[in-house]
Amino acid sequence: MPRILTGIQSSGRPHLGNILGAILPAIELSKDAKNECFYFIADLHSLTSLKNAEDRKEHTYATAAAWLALGLDTGSSIFYRQSMVSEVCELAWYLNCFTPYPMLANSHSFKDKSDKLSDVNAGLFTYPVLMAADIILYDANLVPVGKDQKQHLEITRDIATNFNREYGEVFIVPDALIDDKVMTIPGVDGKKMSKSYGNIIDIFLPEKKLRKQIMKIVTDSTPVEEPKNPDSCIVFQLYSVLANKDRIVSMREKYENGNYGYGQAKQELFELVLEKFETAREKFNFWMENKSDIDSQLIKGEKKAKEIASSKLSLVRKKLGY
Ligand code: ADP
Ligand code: TRP
Repeated sequence: MPRILTGIQSSGRPHLGNILGAILPAIELSKDAKNECFYFIADLHSLTSLKNAEDRKEHTYATAAAWLALGLDTGSSIFYRQSMVSEVCELAWYLNCFTPYPMLANSHSFKDKSDKLSDVNAGLFTYPVLMAADIILYDANLVPVGKDQKQHLEITRDIATNFNREYGEVFIVPDALIDDKVMTIPGVDGKKMSKSYGNIIDIFLPEKKLRKQIMKIVTDSTPVEEPKNPDSCIVFQLYSVLANKDRIVSMREKYENGNYGYGQAKQELFELVLEKFETAREKFNFWMENKSDIDSQLIKGEKKAKEIASSKLSLVRKKLGY
């Protein structure tokens, strides 16, 4: 039975990129009874960037509510907060001592910020080690992630292999599961949609705010009357990942025929988001109004996760002579 594990940081509200790139594919995998799924909220990783406690708490609930609203079944999958299974921190320390400095100095999570070293904390530097601990603590075989996480999985594999070489087959060396069909969803500015770039579309916002976010999508200044190139337009790209074939063809024609403004395209995108996520939006609001129910869902998963984690950690401690 393959074990599948993935996490999403709670450094901000979950967005369309997280949903299409990570949450929905992971939920799909969990529907196959052959898979044993571990899905968690990486609230410890979020501390590398987000320091405000209230914000983290709120984003953690919103991330959990998103998984639940989009259909995660917590009866068959193990769903938990990373911070509630603190065994992961102990394992991360051990793994730190098996991680060569140059491997971390080379990782994108550090390199991207290394032009301003005063902004880099040690947690950010060792971010990939905590991520390796997240994965190998639970003997995960497969880790579904976006292309941006590929290097972190390679680091995980190296750390696990190094440890096993010295102490025997303690850890499973996991494989990344990267679906090339899942595109990187662009944000309203055209860069990768990300909590850290302030360019997200938050499908769970109230209608008015959601519409405002969609209306902010950057477009060029081609006049309304003129034909437009759909392939270079972010609005069209976002519409295409949500719409069915007929609708995509019809919007392409409107772009190419002219007399169709970007404002109209944005309005159609907005309506499509509302239509596609109508039920999920209702469920999200329900969960956010009943946070103690979210807690119950998570506590259930945390109990199971903790059992597995502490048994693995005992083995590691023994191997290390503690
Ligand atoms: P963020 O970049 O917003 O902080 P995370 O790093 O928490 O998001 O990513 C959680 C998951 O969502 C990862 O598997 C990641 O690959 C996926 N993901 C994040 N942004 C996008 C995007 N724009 N398009 C597709 N998948 C994404
Ligand atoms: N670093 C991942 C991201 O930003 C989140 C994450 C933390 C993760 N631990 C993980 C993903 C373990 C998969 C497995 O997307």
